[in-house]
Amino acid sequence: MGLLAPCLLSKVLDLPPENLIKSISAVPVSKKRHVADFQLSIASVTEDGSSNCLAQDLQLQAQKIAERLRCDAVVSEISAGQGTVNFTINRELLAKTVLQQVLKDGSEYGVKSELFSTVPRQKAVIEFSSPNIAKKFHIGHLRSTIVGNFIANLKVALGHEVTRINYLGDWGMQFGLLGVGFQQFGDTEKLKSSPLQHLFEVYVQINKAAEDENTKKLAKDFFRKLEEHDEQTLSLWKQFRDFSIEEYIRIYKRLGVHFDEYSGESLYQEKSQEVLKMLENKGLLQKTTKGTGIVDLSEKKDLSSFSTVMRSDGTSLYITRDLAAAIDRMNKHSWDTMIYVTDKSQSNHFQHLFQILKLMGYDWAERCQHVSFGLVQGMKTRRGEVIFLEDVLNEVRSRMLQNMASAKTTKEIENPMETAEKVGLAALIIQDFRGLLSSDYQFSWDRALQSRGDTGVFLQYTHARLHSLEQMHGNEQLTDVNVACLQEPDAISVLQHLLRYDEVLYRSSQDLQPKHIVSYLLTLSHLAAMAHKTLPVKGSAPELAQVQHGVVTGLEAARGILEEQSVRALPTQWCNHLGEHAPAG
Ligand code: ARG
Repeated sequence: MGLLAPCLLSKVLDLPPENLIKSISAVPVSKKRHVADFQLSIASVTEDGSSNCLAQDLQLQAQKIAERLRCDAVVSEISAGQGTVNFTINRELLAKTVLQQVLKDGSEYGVKSELFSTVPRQKAVIEFSSPNIAKKFHIGHLRSTIVGNFIANLKVALGHEVTRINYLGDWGMQFGLLGVGFQQFGDTEKLKSSPLQHLFEVYVQINKAAEDENTKKLAKDFFRKLEEHDEQTLSLWKQFRDFSIEEYIRIYKRLGVHFDEYSGESLYQEKSQEVLKMLENKGLLQKTTKGTGIVDLSEKKDLSSFSTVMRSDGTSLYITRDLAAAIDRMNKHSWDTMIYVTDKSQSNHFQHLFQILKLMGYDWAERCQHVSFGLVQGMKTRRGEVIFLEDVLNEVRSRMLQNMASAKTTKEIENPMETAEKVGLAALIIQDFRGLLSSDYQFSWDRALQSRGDTGVFLQYTHARLHSLEQMHGNEQLTDVNVACLQEPDAISVLQHLLRYDEVLYRSSQDLQPKHIVSYLLTLSHLAAMAHKTLPVKGSAPELAQVQHGVVTGLEAARGILEEQSVRALPTQWCNHLGEHAPAG
């Protein structure tokens, strides 16, 4: 955008240049060549807004404006399109400016754009993953983990301050059962060596036995002692929690995910009693005939919508603990925005949560957001249904390893396990991020792991290939750019596409949907493959390596946002290995 000095335009349109920033966008690269580089949307600069304007009027206005503008050293062509004025930039200048920007900003390419200059830096609390101890880690938790991580990475990349919270399901009656189960079937050694698996097994076993009245009574007693903070009981529970967290930290690491805080429902036992008192004092707590406590959420106060916040024995519920947690986080972090990432089955829960906070007088409830996502069907491992996060990670690694072994060219890879894991994870993440988060989808290992389609494997492959080209040519001479040799249509397409990256980031930062970045990356990879085929790279002028460098940087910057692992860590042999399976452009 910086390329198109908006001053001339601002005179013609009689608008301050800042107002033009969001009205001018880079034109997406299309199959038919000879498209312009930038377009000004007439609807967004006309006073009466787009809704009142007929398409013909917009067209006419575009023509009028286009006629009043003159080409200069920067703009080599101006034309009127469908409600847009289109600009083509002097080719050499385009190449020079884009490449210089890419070189200058490196991995910060895009995020330094003026598009973000008016966005205030914020403190964000992002709560994601949040599995339940002793229960299975289902696909919803996996999605929450990678989506939450994406949002956190994106916010950090854009300069916001982020606190990542994992809010564990670590309290409730099930811990009564688990405690009794552990006393009967538990093994301290197993608890230490594989806590997640062992606790899950104990929990399954005791649930089978729970039909019997005596077990039920014992479980109740155990949980009561836990609530009364009986030392021995609490210490066993604490072991369950601590060992589980330890193992989770190790597994999340494989995904490139970390948390600043391991919180959980257990932390809000007492505080939720305070919340109940506050609700009572504010006259918001009503008792039902059964003795439970509810909050009326209906507009007409006719209880047509309400939320239960207290059991008849006075104890708290899931939502009460969430109320306490939200208030506590505000006190602790004074955040500007708080985001909860879970599947859409919890949408009602979060709506109620935000409504109650609002009724309590916390205006910041408006700055809470639930980012929800759809259901994924059919993710199975060889062991069957997904129970542990580690199963998924091992499965993707072993499947990828198998694909690599059956590929025809079998060059030695230094660390095949690591390569398979990184490429496989990218495949998993990209498959998940391709669509709208709210849509459900059918999971397929084969589709995710294809090396040719629009997959994470293809992205990793492109990256490795470009990276090794870059190593071959070196990028020391890249400072003095001779752009005359970058005039081939395939080179121009890559440059035009690089030009759009900030807008794509901006979109994702607005709606928190990773799909904009993903489809940008896939297009970038296709364009790179095409350029690689048609442009004489090997042994040619070093300048051509610059486009490659641009693409690597673009890929790297965006990939870094999607997953926090450096793709540079990928062995370059990987690309040789896949060489014969190079996807066609
Ligand atoms: N542990 C919950 C579950 O597995 C998710 C927690 C979501 N976060 C929250 N603050 N309620 O369903």
